[in-house]
Amino acid sequence: MSERIDLLVVNIGQLCTVPAHNGGPQRGAALGDLGLLSGAAVAIREGLVVATGDEAALRSQYTAEQTLDAGGMLVTPGLVDPHTHVIWAGDRADEFERRIAGVTYQQIMAEGGGINRTVRATRAADPQALVAQSRERLRIMLTHGTTTVECKSGYGLETRTEIAMLEAIAALDAELPLDLVPTFLGAHAIPPEYADDPDGYVDLLIGEMLPAVAEWAAVRWPEGVFCDVFCEVGAFSLAQTRRILEAARGYGMPLKLHVDEFEPLGGARLAAELGAVSADHIVVTPEDEIEALGRSNTVAVSLPPTPFGLAHTRYTPARRFLAAGAALAIATDCNPGTGWNESMAFVMALATRYLRLTPAEALAAATVNAAYAIGRGHQVGSLEPGKQADLVIWQVPAYPHLSYRFGSSLAQTVVKRGQVVFTA
Ligand code: NIG
Ligand code: FE
Repeated sequence: MSERIDLLVVNIGQLCTVPAHNGGPQRGAALGDLGLLSGAAVAIREGLVVATGDEAALRSQYTAEQTLDAGGMLVTPGLVDPHTHVIWAGDRADEFERRIAGVTYQQIMAEGGGINRTVRATRAADPQALVAQSRERLRIMLTHGTTTVECKSGYGLETRTEIAMLEAIAALDAELPLDLVPTFLGAHAIPPEYADDPDGYVDLLIGEMLPAVAEWAAVRWPEGVFCDVFCEVGAFSLAQTRRILEAARGYGMPLKLHVDEFEPLGGARLAAELGAVSADHIVVTPEDEIEALGRSNTVAVSLPPTPFGLAHTRYTPARRFLAAGAALAIATDCNPGTGWNESMAFVMALATRYLRLTPAEALAAATVNAAYAIGRGHQVGSLEPGKQADLVIWQVPAYPHLSYRFGSSLAQTVVKRGQVVFTA
């Protein structure tokens, strides 16, 4: 007797299952294991993958309520974007015009523009406007094959608006077919009212904001909210970063850090020491800290759209991270300043050229490793029995096309938890 399933995805030209390795990310030189199958199908029941394997064998083993024809094209796990600032109000197109004319990102930030510009717009936006503007970007992400997105707060920098941002994330998670993963980034910048007293802002963060976020999470997000800090000259020092993250750990919050985007401050070593889930940016990380991350379980998340968006020439030395045995993931960093971009396939295109990843490595960094970078590796990022049936049928025959081509949306059909949620 054949077993009943809800959906069988058939006629797949190339299936990338992108397996986890020993229940974890693909580390170091092992990155790029796509678990490639041809003539394969994916069996799905109740939103979960039941099996992947030879189509003829699965057809005889299962009776499917519905079949979905992949048209002989590529099928991969839904892409996972593990670092975004996609929730914001307003835009900074005029700053972009100034930056390409030669004014630096840090100069604009020092003048009160940059992140604090978006803070003013986000504080002033009503909750529906914030949700509406953010929804548009998340919908674009979905149409580009992304099915899980980490979303940071950090454009409030006061308790009320930080909580409003987390509420916007929760509302959009409930509304959209995407899975959203919230991160509290109250330590994104020093707000203008604390310009002369940055330690006073750190006191407020620890004394008022973290308890409020912990209370919010207990009611609205029991799975747990990440706490992240932008450790950088002009943002938070290493000592301030440590204070904030140690306090967050006291509330049981898992940790993330922005490190080594412009100046090396020792944040990568701190991430490894504190057992952070990820350390992100990692552009100017010194060799000994690359090795410290390589020995740790902290996922190294590279954001190639950021140097690209800033027209910088220095990118994450990804091959050195891989040589050190690190688990490497990639993300859009979608934000209104350094890089407004929604497509993880575009990130793969950049990663193959500027990080020197192979197309297979880039795909694994955008799926299974990206899922581990946000603590969701047990649920998403790979097509393995028991994981969510999040997958993309692409308009291309084979995986190298995802990196080879750029600038077009190549997703044909997006399936989230076994349901078709987008068709081109
Ligand atoms: O990751 N580094 C800090 N935050 C963002 C930029 C945010 C913004 O400019 O609004 C980043 O690059
Ligand atoms: Fe960021």
